[in-house]
Amino acid sequence: MGKRIVFTGGSGKAGRHVVPYLLGQGHEVFNLDLVPLDCPGVNTLITDLRDGGETFNALSMHFGFKGLESGKGPAPVDAVVHFAAVPRILMRPDNATFSANTISTYNVIEAAMKLGISKVIIASSETTYGVCFAEGDKNYHSFPLTEDYDVDPMDSYGLSKVVNEKTARAFAMRFGADIYALRIGNVISPEDYSRFPGFLADPPSRKRNAWSYIDARDLGQIVHLCVEKDGLGFQVFNAVNDTITAREPTRSFLERWAPGTPITGEIGEFEAPISNRKIREVLGFAENHNWRNYVSD
Ligand SMILES: NC(=O)c1ccc[n+]([C@@H]2O[C@H](COP(=O)([O-])OP(=O)(O)OC[C@H]3O[C@@H](n4cnc5c(N)ncnc54)[C@H](O)[C@@H]3O)[C@@H](O)[C@H]2O)c1
Repeated sequence: MGKRIVFTGGSGKAGRHVVPYLLGQGHEVFNLDLVPLDCPGVNTLITDLRDGGETFNALSMHFGFKGLESGKGPAPVDAVVHFAAVPRILMRPDNATFSANTISTYNVIEAAMKLGISKVIIASSETTYGVCFAEGDKNYHSFPLTEDYDVDPMDSYGLSKVVNEKTARAFAMRFGADIYALRIGNVISPEDYSRFPGFLADPPSRKRNAWSYIDARDLGQIVHLCVEKDGLGFQVFNAVNDTITAREPTRSFLERWAPGTPITGEIGEFEAPISNRKIREVLGFAENHNWRNYVSD
């Protein structure tokens, strides 16, 4: 049965694809963002999630005028999906990025918990693996990158996402709730596949993304599976597609382009260096949008 979902940051790059996917699965969605989302059937409440009062209020409101009809006040919310953020470095001063991302995540999770909403899904990031926004040419510790990696970003954005995972863990423990953090890879929307020939031609350019990606629509599937899967407590899930963004098999590709990093775990022939094994095995994820279907040369 469809769930009632509050989605934050639904007007952004990922949200524009994930929200329609959730609607397609029969869920009802209410979007909290600083700017509207043009999506039939979804209301946007202009909300600044850095403000705890606004956040508490927004999570306890009607999703729209139709909510008035029951005469019983706002219906319960089943899940909160928190995507709103400053999505990278160099958009805002470093301290503003760190502060916006950590306080908004704290506010959303705390409000959800104290309002009795026991499922929260938050957007963490590939940047927690420490290379994406590192100074200089940093090496990963080992491949494949799995959820138990000792995350060590040096930048304000990656650090904000590590803190958010800790915030999620603390609240999940305190309230006995399910809070799942998605370490989202580089988000690729349909129009971005035109950039892949350039990625393939220049392997070093994709080291910072660990030669992995997530199709924005497949990210919708992952969020849906998280909404449906209860009882896991605090979890971190890599959210990436199955295969490496290269034509060469993963092991020989990594030996050539990442010689400073040992391969210490099992890795399939074309498996992405950020492993998505956990979402496949625990959530039943099955990708629909492999890059090879969209890139001809
Ligand atoms: N795009 C990627 O490649 C990528 C990779 C890994 C993780 N992520 C994470 O995924 C999430 C979505 O990323 P995106 O690419 O769609 O980003 P985006 O910037 O396109 O969308 C983020 C949305 O959040 C909203 N927002 C920002 N601050 C807000 C605030 N204080 N209150 C309310 N709304 C606010 C923005 O208006 C925007 O619509 C983010 O948490 C990002 O950090 C993105």
